[in-house]
Order: sequence, then C-alpha cells, then structure tokens
Amino acid sequence: ATLLALHGPNLNLLGTREPGIYGATTLAEIDAGLARRAEAAGHRLESFQSNAEHALVDRVQAARGAVDFILINPAAFTHTSVALRDALAAVSIPFIEIHLSNPHAREPFRHASYFSDLAVGVVCGFGADSYRFALDAALKRLEAGA
Ligand code: DQA
Repeated sequence: ATLLALHGPNLNLLGTREPGIYGATTLAEIDAGLARRAEAAGHRLESFQSNAEHALVDRVQAARGAVDFILINPAAFTHTSVALRDALAAVSIPFIEIHLSNPHAREPFRHASYFSDLAVGVVCGFGADSYRFALDAALKRLEAGA
C-alpha cells in the first residue's frame, strides 16, 4: 500500500522549535523513520510538509486514487482549517490525526479540532512516537484489509 505523511505549518522547525513541547527530533528524522518502518512492512510512505494551507489542500487532492492511507499532523491548521478538512472528506482517504503534544492539556484554543470526527483515530501526546504509533495502527488496518 502507499501511505502519505502530511505535516502542517512550523513542523519544518522540529528539533529547534519549542523543544520542551515538541521534542528534539527533526522532521527529517521522523520522516526517515516512518519510511523505513513502512518499507520493512512491505509498503511505501511519502512525506510532505508545508506552511501553506493551499499546498496541503493540493497535496490531499493529488492523493486521490494514489494513496491508501494518510497520516496527518495538521499543526495549527488543526484548529482553523475547514478547507483542509473538506479536502480530506472529498478524497475519502482514511486518515489518522497526529500531534506531538497533547493539545487537550494546553491552551483552550487547541482543544478543538476540525479533523478528529473524520479521523480513523487520533494519536497525541507521545512526541515523535505519536507518528510511530499512528503508523503501526495504519499498517495493522491496511493489513486487515479495512
Ligand atoms: C501540534 C499541536 C498544535 O496545536 C500546534 O499548533 C502545532 C503542533 C502538535 O503536534 O502537537 O503546530 O499539532
């Protein structure tokens, strides 16, 4: 199967961005780890990061018919983007919502997500491991043929 990891705004700064909240692992390290793990399980994983809402919407649209499962950390767009939500709904590709931090333990404006009710599931609060746990859940689901 083909999986797509999508990363929203400011996640290109991982490693140096508020490390007390988001950890020391860089996005390149996260993506490489995901690709390695997916390949070891006989699958393929592509990654894309953008600070621009339209670029993420375009990437989701381009995934239609080409991607079987999406792992997405919408970052700040989690709390703002009807457009990105609508794109995921439009392509009907199952996805898991991921956060490094636990948004529910942070400022009230982070408690709401435009994605959670459409997601297969949500993994948050485990730092870079959130991505790994989400990938394992996605692979299990794909291998079950769901
Ligand atoms: C985040 C949480 C969001 O509230 C925040 O805007 C981010 C990162 C996380 O991974 O913890 O940029 O999605």
